[in-house]
Amino acid sequence: MVHHKYLLLSFVISLAAIQGIHSVDYVVTNTASNTTGGSRFNKEIGSKYSKQTLTNATNFTWKIFQQKTTADRKKVAKVSLFIEDIDGVAYAANNEIYITGVLFHEMTHIWQWNGNGQSPPGGLIEGIADFVRLKSGYVPSHWVQPGKGDRWDQGYDVTAWFLDYLNGLRNGFVADLNKKLRTGYSANYFVELLGKTVDQLWSDYKAKYGN
Ligand SMILES: *[C@@H]1O[C@H](CO)[C@@H](O)[C@H](O)[C@H]1NC(C)=O
Ligand SMILES: *[C@@H]1O[C@H](CO)[C@@H](O)[C@H](O)[C@H]1NC(C)=O
Ligand SMILES: *[C@@H]1O[C@H](CO)[C@@H](O)[C@H](O)[C@H]1NC(C)=O
Repeated sequence: MVHHKYLLLSFVISLAAIQGIHSVDYVVTNTASNTTGGSRFNKEIGSKYSKQTLTNATNFTWKIFQQKTTADRKKVAKVSLFIEDIDGVAYAANNEIYITGVLFHEMTHIWQWNGNGQSPPGGLIEGIADFVRLKSGYVPSHWVQPGKGDRWDQGYDVTAWFLDYLNGLRNGFVADLNKKLRTGYSANYFVELLGKTVDQLWSDYKAKYGN
């Protein structure tokens, strides 16, 4: 079972996946309907929109990962989305682009491979999830600009932009890297796919943006 949480200002979204061979079933549970955050979720987003977004995000992630058959994909029968309230968090505006983007990010975690116990950097896993979000077009305004960041595996937006650069060097790079992550992890995967170490690639990337 995979379980991820994402803080959305006045409520928390988490996704859980149950393994199985059947087509994917989506269930949305709002445990916070009575609270400000929970009722906002019902009013502004709702379970129908959420389920459609999760379905779309699944399709999109399979496409980005070039997983055309069920043999290529993780075996997941059910994905549950939970909405929970968090006390004491100030009421702030969420928007559809932000929430849809978060759902794409979180769905990617459900489907991506993660090194089969060989511990890829957490920042790489988060970067891949944000790369799918980037490709979906649901990019929030608070993201850093391309070329920013201190380390290739800083995660999230920083790593997503770097992966986008790498994907430009080799079309399908992220899909190929994800395929390799099914059975393990090695920093050498970058050399195998792109002919350079990840540190060299990061230097090239930073130089391209002049920082
Ligand atoms: C919502 O509030 C009502 C009335 O106070 C209560 O009976 C119910 O259990 C609450 N539901 C949830 C999901 O907390
Ligand atoms: C899901 O994708 C379909 C087809 O691209 C689109 O028409 C629909 O608006 C999408 N739904 C959501 C909630 O994004
Ligand atoms: C998912 O993709 C398949 C194949 O590309 C397509 O037939 C189906 O309509 C898509 N579903 C959604 C919800 O976008």
